[in-house]
Amino acid sequence: MSGTPLLELRAVAKSFGGVAALKGVDFTLDAGEIHALVGENGAGKSTLMKIIAGVHASYQGEMRLAGDVVRFRSARDAREAGIGMVHQELAIVPTLSVAENVLLGMQPRNRLGFIDWPAMIAIAGRHLENLGLIVDPRAEMASLPLGMQQLIEIARVLFSGARLIILDEPTSALSPPEITRLFALLERLRAEGRSFIFISHFLDDVLAICDRVTVFRNGAKAAGARVAEIDKAWLIEHMIGAGHHELEESYLGEIQLRGPEGEAADAPVVLAAEGLGLGGAFQDVSFIVRAGEVLGIYGFMGSGQLDLPRAIFGKTPPEHGILRIDGRPVRLRNTTSACRAGLAFVPESRRSMLFALEPLYKNMSISVLDRLARLWLKPKREREIARGHITQLSIRPPFPDRPLGTLSGGNQQKVALAKWLTFRPKVLMLSEPTRGMDVGAKEDVVRIVRRLRNEGLAIIVASTEPETVLSLADRILVMRKGRIAREFANETVSKDRLLAAA
Ligand SMILES: Nc1ncnc2c1ncn2[C@@H]1O[C@H](COP(=O)(O)OP(=O)(O)O)[C@@H](O)[C@H]1O
Ligand SMILES: [Mg+2]
Repeated sequence: MSGTPLLELRAVAKSFGGVAALKGVDFTLDAGEIHALVGENGAGKSTLMKIIAGVHASYQGEMRLAGDVVRFRSARDAREAGIGMVHQELAIVPTLSVAENVLLGMQPRNRLGFIDWPAMIAIAGRHLENLGLIVDPRAEMASLPLGMQQLIEIARVLFSGARLIILDEPTSALSPPEITRLFALLERLRAEGRSFIFISHFLDDVLAICDRVTVFRNGAKAAGARVAEIDKAWLIEHMIGAGHHELEESYLGEIQLRGPEGEAADAPVVLAAEGLGLGGAFQDVSFIVRAGEVLGIYGFMGSGQLDLPRAIFGKTPPEHGILRIDGRPVRLRNTTSACRAGLAFVPESRRSMLFALEPLYKNMSISVLDRLARLWLKPKREREIARGHITQLSIRPPFPDRPLGTLSGGNQQKVALAKWLTFRPKVLMLSEPTRGMDVGAKEDVVRIVRRLRNEGLAIIVASTEPETVLSLADRILVMRKGRIAREFANETVSKDRLLAAA
């Protein structure tokens, strides 16, 4: 029956503890289409997808699959109906092999009931090869780059036989060649009749690969269109509303690097790296960061720019070179000595430094730094400070006592940053500060970072996303294969020029 959508949702509503995440949403997906879902952080995208994938069993409204009313009680129900989801938070098991992850829950067993290893390796190997993924099925998941882990998770969902596949921000961790590979794969699978819902904050990706787009705002559908009939400006306008010029620039065109403004040009050098090197991660890295300056470090996944802040922060200390803070050489053996020296670091996996079960306000005040500085705060004072940050950074939902884990990724990142508004380090290093965030939340982060910069902090922003570096940095270093390949300062730079230098 042509004309019947593959999936049809009507008036779907869902609340979490009295807060409405979805306020009566309609959504349709046709067979053989790639349908983009975009919108601000907290707009309700993941919640709707979890309803479709059976993760949330309780909701209002109606869902039809190929015309029939369905109501999934579990993710397993949805899987059996041919619906698979790649979650925003990777669901892989890092300690297992690639093959076990691909076949998770479906491992072949021998006559004795044990997992049939040779068969499993062979099946997984063939499947991965079919998808064009070059990886040893025996390798441990944790040993692979994040981007490859993500592709393998997608491979797992495909292996489960899903014909409707939900991808919740799959490209956030991928390098350009990996994205190209993923898109080629999606197009091939679409031609075979599979359907996709593709959530992404990368609007170029949406325009490049999708057939239709639905825009969510505040738990409701704000707009919908065929991708052929719209452009980036249309998407941005419906996602954030008019009047967000700062970000529009970094999304749409050329950026004039501000360079150190006025006196900042001879502001003191806070951090100086001379000939830093660490194993295969990076070599011969020298640079300075001045007070009141944001230094962007851009590179493809695996080019060393994310290893650098981690090393400087003492997680895996550099083996070669000298690091100076305020002119004095410092030896950073571990993160405690780095904190003491005035360094702060917000890593790309925020979960490693935040406490999902603890309330917001605690996450804004817990830090190694405050312990060292003996800045113990009373809970009442902690909540007051948190309330201030929540308002200033438009953290949603705005409740200081809410467990952090219930917030969207973007809002968690704002919480991670808020901490440094109270406890000022000398150098703040941010790794992928806006990864997986929507335009509105990104803009909030840009505002926070600029504010900290204007107050004299030296800031390093390392990212694999050109837009992130372009929207934040005063000066940009591009890394390639562990070395600094080029510097952009006092000039105009665009996404294309950055990519060309990497
Ligand atoms: N498990 C949960 N418990 C409580 N609140 C939640 C939960 N999941 C999502 N929310 C809330 O629902 C809203 C929508 O979140 P989400 O669907 O994750 O948005 P998006 O994916 O568009 O960023 C947010 O306000 C979020 O805090
Ligand atoms: Mg989401």
